[in-house]
Amino acid sequence: MRRGLILLASMAALSCPVSAAVDAELARRAAWWTEARFGMFIHWGVYAVPADSTLLNGSRGAAEWYLTNKRMPIDDYRRFAARFNPGRYDAAQWVKIARQAGMRYIIITSKHHDGFCLWDSALTDWSISKATPFQRDALRELSRECRRQGMPLGYYYSIMDWSHPDYLPRRAWDTRPAEGADFERYVQYMKGQVRELIGGYGPVRVLWFDGEWEDTWTHERGVDLYNCVRTLAPDILINNRVDKGRKGMQGMTREGDFRGDFGTPEQEVPPEGFPDGRLWESCITINHTWGYAENDTDWKSSTQLIRLLCDVAGKGGNLLLNVGPKADGTFPEAITERLLEMGRWLQANGEAIYGTSAGMLKDLPEGVRCTRRGSTLYLHVFEWPEEGLTIRGVSALPVRARVLATGEEIPVARVGRTGIRVARPSETDPAVTVVRLDIGSGLR
Ligand code: GLC
Repeated sequence: MRRGLILLASMAALSCPVSAAVDAELARRAAWWTEARFGMFIHWGVYAVPADSTLLNGSRGAAEWYLTNKRMPIDDYRRFAARFNPGRYDAAQWVKIARQAGMRYIIITSKHHDGFCLWDSALTDWSISKATPFQRDALRELSRECRRQGMPLGYYYSIMDWSHPDYLPRRAWDTRPAEGADFERYVQYMKGQVRELIGGYGPVRVLWFDGEWEDTWTHERGVDLYNCVRTLAPDILINNRVDKGRKGMQGMTREGDFRGDFGTPEQEVPPEGFPDGRLWESCITINHTWGYAENDTDWKSSTQLIRLLCDVAGKGGNLLLNVGPKADGTFPEAITERLLEMGRWLQANGEAIYGTSAGMLKDLPEGVRCTRRGSTLYLHVFEWPEEGLTIRGVSALPVRARVLATGEEIPVARVGRTGIRVARPSETDPAVTVVRLDIGSGLR
């Protein structure tokens, strides 16, 4: 709301009523999403069978890129489907873990670059229900569970498609003749699939496109796809990878007339956030790969992950944290453990994350982040200096300072004209201690 008002005010100053209306409209559509702050990304497909993220030269890649990493012909790759039989897949359990982790939405790969579909698409046989012994419709089960448990759901969908005969360009080692391939027909196929998802697997809250970087995908096509989706689902959110405006892994949209409701930094957090109110979501893995890989056990610790969430929230963005389920349908244990620890922290500290905006305090000490709700500031403290924390830019003593998780009241003293010193509480959290400061009218 506040973001909407600020935006409206600044747009009005530029006397640009049309964009102002558009931005207010986006703020309205995205309200649930900015409130949510924390979502689960799921990368799942037949690549979970080989579960290997290494390239032919031995260096580290991502497991969902298996076909390309190994330069494998699509017909050989398709054979993994015969071994994709996730008997332990339980959508209710997946949604439950997301809830317990404190995640407030789920984005799952409906179709990744290999073209394999996790739902029973009428437009291809290259799907979980037709090409595998499993034969169930994983997305139908997940969408039903999300509805039942009140979890917003969105779909990742790859524009690049290594298996569809009409997709161009072909991989260099693909021996299928390119003559007769018709990219326009492929675009119709994509739109047909998007229609299936929106019509039968909803409500779809987000469409998260990817693989937009090849030359066959143009700005005009991006605009057309964006408009097509928006007409089908007026309230949906669509990421900026639908169009050609994304700036590399930094992920925000460059200047120009590009579509996309939010930016998509990948494996990074924008160093300062964006005070102009642009929406963004950092997608980040817990190990190095998106799809499951047996050989990648280099997990971030729960402390690192909790700090990551605070860092993102402190800069006003969302965190989309990835899970690569195994081919048997379960989450790797190392992931579940970490998610549950995040959930425990959020149980006590969620007030400092959900529905907050960037703290907007300058010159915070190292290892401190800040979020804000009205005249309340939340200090996210990673490491406590013995002498307490000095915070600048607060022109009045806070009415009250207390540790959010324990309720402990802590003394605050004035330092200079605009600073305060917050004493170290008697008990601190090894991951992040949140101090709630009720400031009254003293925020600069
Ligand atoms: C990439 C990768 C991909 C992954 C995605 C997540 O662009 O190609 O495998 O799904 O980013 O952001």
